[in-house]
Amino acid sequence: MKNILHIISSPRTGISFSTKLGKAIIENLIVAYPSSKVVERDLTIDPFPHLQQKHLDAFFTRPENRTEINATDIKHSETAIEEIKRADVIIISVDVYNFNIHSTLKAWIDHIVRSGITFKLADTGVEGLLTDKKVYLAVASKGVYSEGPMKQFDFVVPYLRFVLNFIGINDIEVLRVEGSSIPAEQETILEKSLNEWSLIA
Ligand SMILES: Cc1cc2nc3c(=O)[nH]c(=O)nc-3n(C[C@H](O)[C@H](O)[C@H](O)COP(=O)(O)O)c2cc1C
Repeated sequence: MKNILHIISSPRTGISFSTKLGKAIIENLIVAYPSSKVVERDLTIDPFPHLQQKHLDAFFTRPENRTEINATDIKHSETAIEEIKRADVIIISVDVYNFNIHSTLKAWIDHIVRSGITFKLADTGVEGLLTDKKVYLAVASKGVYSEGPMKQFDFVVPYLRFVLNFIGINDIEVLRVEGSSIPAEQETILEKSLNEWSLIA
């Protein structure tokens, strides 16, 4: 049994490759770990706010000193971090927009990377505090970034790896549905991605 958290960032409900790939990963996990519990967090339905001064005020006020307003302003962050802490496995469905992650996913990340909560500054450097978690990145893009001439422009996976490592998550597997701009590939790319995937850890 695993506690699974699925983060969805594509607005293309129903036809999103990254969401479909994420759901297929979860189906496989449930076969391997029956009775797993799945929490789905669709960031396009309930978007996280871009960080404003009020969020920073709440982040940097000690819990015992927080006002009711601070408590409201920190709610998205607290809920997201609680969901991550509860999860053994996190599937992040990532749609590539303008060579980067969707802004709604970036907003979620800005609420979960918090000093003293998900990372801390130690004498030896930064210490990530979210250990013992596995992350699958289910990445969808029209171009091909895993190899070939566009690989140098793959900012998405290196960034996500780095920021997840920063908060202590080092066990990261990447699956891609890529090349959807190539007509011959369109029908089969999702299946291909899953076939290439040698599950299951
Ligand atoms: C606004 C916008 C920007 C995009 N930018 C890129 C891009 O920079 N590189 C790329 O390969 N595909 C790009 N695409 C294509 C999407 O990555 C592709 O359609 C992918 O399947 C989206 O994920 P989804 O199927 O989960 O919605 C873009 C699509 C849109 C709508």
